[in-house]
Amino acid sequence: MPAFPPGFLWGSATAAYQIEGAVAEGGRGPSIWDTFSHTPGRVQNGDTGDVADDHYHRYRDDVASMRELNLGAYRFSISWPRVQPAGTGSLNPEGVDFYDRLLDELHGAGITPWVTLYHWDLPQPLEDAGGWPERDTALRFADYAAAVHERFADRVADWTTLNEPWCSAFLGYFTGHHAPGRTEPAASLRAVHHLLLGHGLAVQAMRTARSDNRFGITLNLYPVDPATDSDADRDAARRVDGISNRLFTDPVLRGAYPDDVLADLAMLWPADLVQDGDLDVIATPLDQLGVNYYSRHVVRATDTAVPPSDPAGPGSPAVPARGNGWIGCDDVEKTGYGYPQTTMGWEIDAPGLHDVLTRLHRDYPSLPPLYVTENGASFDDVVSPDGAVHDAQRTAYLDAHFRQAARAIADGVDLRGYFVWSLLDNFEWAWGYQRRFGIVHVDYDTLRRTIKDSGYFVARVAAANGLSGDGDAGDSVGDGPGDGAGDGAAGGDGAGGAR
Ligand code: FCB
Repeated sequence: MPAFPPGFLWGSATAAYQIEGAVAEGGRGPSIWDTFSHTPGRVQNGDTGDVADDHYHRYRDDVASMRELNLGAYRFSISWPRVQPAGTGSLNPEGVDFYDRLLDELHGAGITPWVTLYHWDLPQPLEDAGGWPERDTALRFADYAAAVHERFADRVADWTTLNEPWCSAFLGYFTGHHAPGRTEPAASLRAVHHLLLGHGLAVQAMRTARSDNRFGITLNLYPVDPATDSDADRDAARRVDGISNRLFTDPVLRGAYPDDVLADLAMLWPADLVQDGDLDVIATPLDQLGVNYYSRHVVRATDTAVPPSDPAGPGSPAVPARGNGWIGCDDVEKTGYGYPQTTMGWEIDAPGLHDVLTRLHRDYPSLPPLYVTENGASFDDVVSPDGAVHDAQRTAYLDAHFRQAARAIADGVDLRGYFVWSLLDNFEWAWGYQRRFGIVHVDYDTLRRTIKDSGYFVARVAAANGLSGDGDAGDSVGDGPGDGAGDGAAGGDGAGGAR
């Protein structure tokens, strides 16, 4: 029976724009996601985060759900445009008050808050000034982080600077699948560096104020396999691994961008980008590293450039987006092993989580303690006539991934917690409300919440701090690749490319 170490943290995760709604209340300013989602053709169905889960008004109910789910921790993001509407200057008291109320509720429920400072909602005025490709945005982020941290440092011990800078940089500025929807290769590399610089500056500022708090960053990491053993496919895998993983883990954990990636990108990488001392800032030691894991990349080299993919899926208006998200890899195609997929079109590959965690442990001697800050699955859930949501596929998915986390711990990885994505069904970025990741179902007509069967499964795991012998998901869960969610997982419908 896989058990987890004493004190292992079980939680769920959300992000501000995906759940809060109330975009025009309490003095909140617009973010790039408000602008993007209100631009026709950018998000499936024209969905926006205007109302989302209305968490801004229903946070008490949502904390009550967490309590019912036996969750010990809650990872949420603070909306930069809610607390600092223009991206500079003093904090907006009404915005701060909302998070104060949320923290009161969490503390009252005995749930540890875990704050992410940036989950993709850049204040629009900062994008108007150039966005992440501008060095000044890194400085603005560090100021914002320091101000928010000062306000909440007594009540929040765990701080994540950025969520998935890969997505911010490459989906935001290279493919254009995400806000602000720009398709500028060199600008996307500038964004990478300035995001990481902002991260390092923020950690330094916050740690100077409170060395007893814990600081980290969350990265989306993937095992990358070549489709065949050919030299071309193996080189494609090296390049995709470089862009997806090492471009972020190497500077943060080693203080250097990977040489092979710099060589691959020599034609695109701006010569004036990295200034003296930047890499020391970026490599400021961390107290924890967050890992978001969803799937594995299997790639092959092609003779021709991969055509642009449409993030909003078949039938949606054309989006001026390009490529597969892997800059410099226009000739690389994402394939797969043919395993069952979630409705995101992501293959279910639970052993990949073990691979990601053990690889970090093996490759980075200065690795801080790890947390899985996101893992979960989208399926087309419905409320049954009996009033329940029987999401057996998600339960099987989570069971399989929890077992791989336990396996990684047994193999020596210092993994200290696990946040399921997501507490609630929510606004899934370019997919709008068409993708459900929650362990709590949300009816978007009534905003009624219903704990799914997978939520009750997580509640049992969290209470026991372990999994029962043969798995709550039954025989469909095993250790081998691809058997993670048993039969019948819904097929993907063309997310295409890297996301
Ligand atoms: C991650 C994001 C999160 C959610 C999940 C499905 O990349 O951090 O907001 O969209 O994917």
